[in-house]
Amino acid sequence: MGLGARHELPQLVKQFGDSAFVVTDPGIAEQASFREILSLLESAGCQTSVFDDVSPDPPLEVVERCASQAARSGAHVFIGIGGGSALDVAKVAAVVTRHGYELPSLFGIDQVPEPGVPTILLPTTAGTGSEVTPIAVLSDESHQLKRGIVSDHLLAQHALVDPELCLTLPPGPTAYTGMDTLTHAIEAYTNKFAVPLIDTFALEVVRLVGASLVSAVNDPSNVAARYDMSLASLLGGLCLKSVNTAAVHALAYPLGGRFHVPHGVANSLLLPHVMRFNAPISSQRYQTIGERLGVSDAVAAVEELSTAVGTDKRMRDFGVEQEHLAEMAASAMEVQRLLKNNPREVTESDALAIYQAAW
Ligand SMILES: [Fe+2]
Repeated sequence: MGLGARHELPQLVKQFGDSAFVVTDPGIAEQASFREILSLLESAGCQTSVFDDVSPDPPLEVVERCASQAARSGAHVFIGIGGGSALDVAKVAAVVTRHGYELPSLFGIDQVPEPGVPTILLPTTAGTGSEVTPIAVLSDESHQLKRGIVSDHLLAQHALVDPELCLTLPPGPTAYTGMDTLTHAIEAYTNKFAVPLIDTFALEVVRLVGASLVSAVNDPSNVAARYDMSLASLLGGLCLKSVNTAAVHALAYPLGGRFHVPHGVANSLLLPHVMRFNAPISSQRYQTIGERLGVSDAVAAVEELSTAVGTDKRMRDFGVEQEHLAEMAASAMEVQRLLKNNPREVTESDALAIYQAAW
C-alpha cells in the first residue's frame, strides 16, 4: 500500500507470465488512471485484454461472460481494478475460467474446490476491502437475492492499494463506501467471535474514518484524507477474513438484492439501529469506539458522521414499502453465516423491528 503503488503492477504481473486479463467497470475504463495502468503494462511488455462490463451488484451472467472471454484470451493472470463489484467479479471469474465451474455450486462457505488463475487486485474505492478478502458477493437475480461465495481460493495473490486511484471517486460513493468500511470495523470489533489482533485493526479503522471521511467527501482531491481512507479500507478488509461482519451486513442483503440500494448505503442506514439493538451486550465496546471517534456516545457519533457525509437515508427513500418489511426480515434470516456473529441473537421479529426503525 502507498501513494503510486500501481507502478509496481508490471513487475508483479511478470511473476505469473506476460499476458494479463483486466477486469473493470465502464466508468473506470474511461478514466485516465486506468489508461495509464494499461500503458504501464504495455511498456513492460505485457499483453492485456480488457473486460470492462462489470455492473453494480453483478449478476451471475456478468461473471460467466467475463470468464468465457478470459478463457479465450488464455491470460496468465487476472487484474481486477475498481470497486468491490469489479474486484469480486475478477476473483470469481478467475476460478471459473480455470475450472469451468457452474456458479450456483460455488455459493456458501468453502464450496470452491481448487485455486483459479492468479489474481492481482487494485481498489479504486475505500471501500469494501475486497482486495484482501476471501469473499465475493453476487446478485442471484432469479431469487432477487445477493449471495456470497466464501473461499480461500478467492484470495488474491497480490493487492495493490494506491490511494491515488481514489482521487476521482465522487463524493457520493466516497461517503457510502467509507461508511461500509466503518461498518466492517464496528461489526468486527463487537463481533461474538472478536479476537485481540483484529480488534487493533478495527479500532484503527474507526479512528481513521472518524478523522478523514468527511474531508475525503468534501474535498475529493485531498490526498492525505484519501490515504487514511484507503488504509482504513484495507485494514477493514483484513477484519473480514478472520472475524467478518454481523447483523448490519445480514440485514443489508435484502436491501441490495431486491431494491438495489448500494451496499454502503444499506449498511449506513441500518448501522445505528443495529447498534442500538446490540447496545445491552456491547456497551463497553461502544465506549471504546466512541473514544476513537472523540465522543462518549458511539451511536450518536455514527449518526452524526452519516449526516455529515449524506448517507443518513431511510429505507422508504428507496421504494421499500411497509408491506415489504416482513418478507425482508424472513429473507435476512437466511444469512446465518453473518447473523451467527452478532453479539446479540437476532430473531425474525427482531429483524423486523430493526427494519421498522430504519424505514
Ligand atoms: Fe461491507
